[in-house]
Amino acid sequence: MPAPESAPALDLVTGAFSNTGKYVAERLLARGRRVRTLTGHPGHPHPFGDRIQAFPYDFDRPERLRETLRGVDTVYNTYWVRFEYGDRTYARAVENVKTLIRTAEEAGVRRLVHVSIANPSVDSPFPYYRGKWAMEEALRASRLSWAILRPTVIFGPDDILINNIAWCLRHFPVFGVPGDGSYGMQPIFIEELADLLVAAGAATENAVADAVGPEVFTFDAWLRAIAAAIGVRARLVHLPPRLAWLATKAIDPWVGDVLLTWEEVGGLRAGLLASKAPPLGRVRLTDWLERHAAQVGVKYASELARHFR
Ligand SMILES: NC(=O)c1ccc[n+]([C@@H]2O[C@H](COP(=O)([O-])OP(=O)(O)OC[C@H]3O[C@@H](n4cnc5c(N)ncnc54)[C@H](OP(=O)(O)O)[C@@H]3O)[C@@H](O)[C@H]2O)c1
Repeated sequence: MPAPESAPALDLVTGAFSNTGKYVAERLLARGRRVRTLTGHPGHPHPFGDRIQAFPYDFDRPERLRETLRGVDTVYNTYWVRFEYGDRTYARAVENVKTLIRTAEEAGVRRLVHVSIANPSVDSPFPYYRGKWAMEEALRASRLSWAILRPTVIFGPDDILINNIAWCLRHFPVFGVPGDGSYGMQPIFIEELADLLVAAGAATENAVADAVGPEVFTFDAWLRAIAAAIGVRARLVHLPPRLAWLATKAIDPWVGDVLLTWEEVGGLRAGLLASKAPPLGRVRLTDWLERHAAQVGVKYASELARHFR
């Protein structure tokens, strides 16, 4: 049934039952807006009760996707795949986002706020970063009003990367660092990223910005900060990058996951997880870690379990 004329504005957040999308959806609901989500797991437990309408990612059925998008004011897109697995390739994810953009145009959506990554590039050696660039380009070329935010590493209660690094620091006597560990890390707090996304949704100008926090670490200093917070000694061993990555392959079967991709090693070492732009976030990872030390890295967080099972 169509919403009455006076119904609050309707937004669509991809992945509202997952990580970043959850915080975006919370904020939109708190502002009195209605929220729909697209998700790969419409049946997953979530804290929203019946306040969010969930729809599957109908990328292969654009006519259904168009109907889901009808009446939506702003789309917040968090969808992407961290690594290729089975038929979920970067190329397919890029096509899926292009479908989302096209159907949003057709459905009359006003604005699309897109979560990209810092330092995407058309000629990056890394398909992840080229894919992120291709999605940005598709959005810039669309008829939609748009905003693009580019985080580096996101931290918060459900993050995977920092949690699993902490898990390794808790479980192994040494930590194999790819290369010299001098490359930069500039994480942003997930709630601040969500604030930035919602503010970008309310704006009207087309805009792109890096979304990074106030602290810049070297990778070594970052590992030491995590280790100090959780009360373990960081015994860092600098290894040839390939060897450090191969060591994680020995852990993969144990945790049933892909701990680190070769591409992520490349992105790290190329300094792509830091930004030259002024920080938009104010929450410091070190402060957050202090408050959450008892939980961080106690349990392994599996990307495969989250998205593929
Ligand atoms: N996490 C970080 O540290 C980080 C750093 C830089 C940039 N980013 C970007 O920020 C955005 C949000 O990241 P996030 O960590 O918050 O993501 P997320 O919530 O875990 O996932 C976002 C959405 O993508 C879907 N998705 C993720 N992996 C998938 C896969 N392999 N196959 C199919 N669907 C998949 C999820 O599906 P479900 O709805 O089924 O969960 C969810 O709807 C992404 O675009 C990511 O590239 C993240």
